[in-house]
Amino acid sequence: MDYKKYIADKIKVEGVSSSDIEALIAIPPNTDMGDYALPCFRFAKALKKSPAVIAEELAKSISPDGVISEISSLNGYLNFRIDKSGLLRTTLAQIGEKGAAYGSSSLGNGKTICIDYSSVNIAKPFHIGHLSTTVIGGALYKIFSFLGYKVVGINHLGDYGTQFGKLISAYKRWGDREDVEKRGIFAVNELYVRFNNEATEEMEAEAREYFRLIENGDREANELFDWFKSLTLAYVDKIYDRLGVKFDSYNGERFYTDKMQPVIDELKEKGLLIESNGAQVVDLEPYGMPPCLILRSDGASLYATRDLAAAYYRKATYDFDKCLYVVAYQQNLHFKQLFKVLELLGKDWAKDMVHVAYGMVSLEDGAMSTRKGKVVWLEDVINKCVEKALKVIDEKNPDLENKRSVAEKVGVGAVIFGALYNNKIKDIVFSYDKVLSFEGETGVYCQYTCARANSVISKSEGMSRELPENLTCNAEEFELVKALASFPDAVKDAAEKYEPSIIARYAVDLSQKFNKFYFECKILTAEDGVRAQRLAMTDATLLTLKNALALLGIGVPDKM
Ligand code: ARG
Repeated sequence: MDYKKYIADKIKVEGVSSSDIEALIAIPPNTDMGDYALPCFRFAKALKKSPAVIAEELAKSISPDGVISEISSLNGYLNFRIDKSGLLRTTLAQIGEKGAAYGSSSLGNGKTICIDYSSVNIAKPFHIGHLSTTVIGGALYKIFSFLGYKVVGINHLGDYGTQFGKLISAYKRWGDREDVEKRGIFAVNELYVRFNNEATEEMEAEAREYFRLIENGDREANELFDWFKSLTLAYVDKIYDRLGVKFDSYNGERFYTDKMQPVIDELKEKGLLIESNGAQVVDLEPYGMPPCLILRSDGASLYATRDLAAAYYRKATYDFDKCLYVVAYQQNLHFKQLFKVLELLGKDWAKDMVHVAYGMVSLEDGAMSTRKGKVVWLEDVINKCVEKALKVIDEKNPDLENKRSVAEKVGVGAVIFGALYNNKIKDIVFSYDKVLSFEGETGVYCQYTCARANSVISKSEGMSRELPENLTCNAEEFELVKALASFPDAVKDAAEKYEPSIIARYAVDLSQKFNKFYFECKILTAEDGVRAQRLAMTDATLLTLKNALALLGIGVPDKM
């Protein structure tokens, strides 16, 4: 049940819509006065009354019912107390009814969202820096789908540029087909690094020539390029599988090679393109930004040019309602420029473009991955977490079945949760011990809570879940049921703010509430009616927690 909406529908304030009222209703940190509160300060001006008087009058105008048991006002706040057993009954009924769909909605039906995420660079390492975009984008994909949107996941591959000329040149000099076949992307990456270390003028010129050959459709150059590309994709796909993310399109930068000209022509027609030191740029000085480079003096296109073509293509192909770019905040300026140029081109849909920026991930040992010249491959981080998880399981529960597959879920879950737990814009320091802690605010903690609920459930065979006439609702039960009831809100909130951390935090909160309930309230040994109720609450918790974790791409082992 959506309590905020239910309450909002009962409150009539002249000139204020029910949805605006709903947005103002909050769950107070201290529940002494009520479970939900509406601050009335915003209405004072329009109604020409003090907030206190408004709250008082509103309190008188609403009477308690089966859902709201008490209405009061204090200091400009209108307070509501929820009928606890009513809440318990309706929430359990709803979760039982919706099952794996609990928390989903049809909010986004008929709307399309494009999400550009992960967007790896071909033949370059898939390193720890790609973790956030991959898991944030992957979670947003699932969250929006859950809310009924049609989602298009796009991996805007970095597969364009002179680096591919370098790669071909390096391969032709030192490459060994067998080695590349055997070691794949690692061998390719070594060739690229060696080229950069040893490059002379002459080699650079050769690389430019190879790039030109790729562009001009030369067969050998393209075969090599395609080979490197398929090696990279085969490699990253395995990691995507483990992280539970998927894409609907792998149209990368190169895909737009023949789609830039119309945009360049339009820029020209609209008088937006000016020459600057031989290059073609869009002047953005009036908007406080450096110019947006469209064509270099040698006529070559740029990252922004291809992104403009991609934006046109996406609008034409998917007719999106929103187009998200999950890209690090280092590219803030790029996206501000991109959106501004689209606006100057007169595209009213420029307002639907959103840069979902996130902070940096570094490893605990202090080494900022790339600065030392040493790259931390994402796969190694995941493998290390899985190995460590296996060790912990070996210590805690040596007889557990399927230890490997449990460790995979725990280790991968730890990596994902570690990357998603904080507000996305924050820089994070990744610590193996922290993300694998059973006690902290971690994925492992949530998974362990599921295993705990599961173990209660497996001991309850044959026991009824039929709710008695009178329900109990002590403090722990009430806290748990409120958390269960608020899941649909958390999902919507996460979507609205493009913030998967809201779901991660929700999962920890729900786990904490369940664990309190588990330690304070007898479940299996309670008398019949109470036992049925508490078992139903345990079922509901397991289901809701699994749903929440699934939205983040985290699986749940039955036992651990
Ligand atoms: N490949 C780019 C990088 O690694 C990210 C691309 C993001 N998407 C885009 N449409 N620009 O920096």
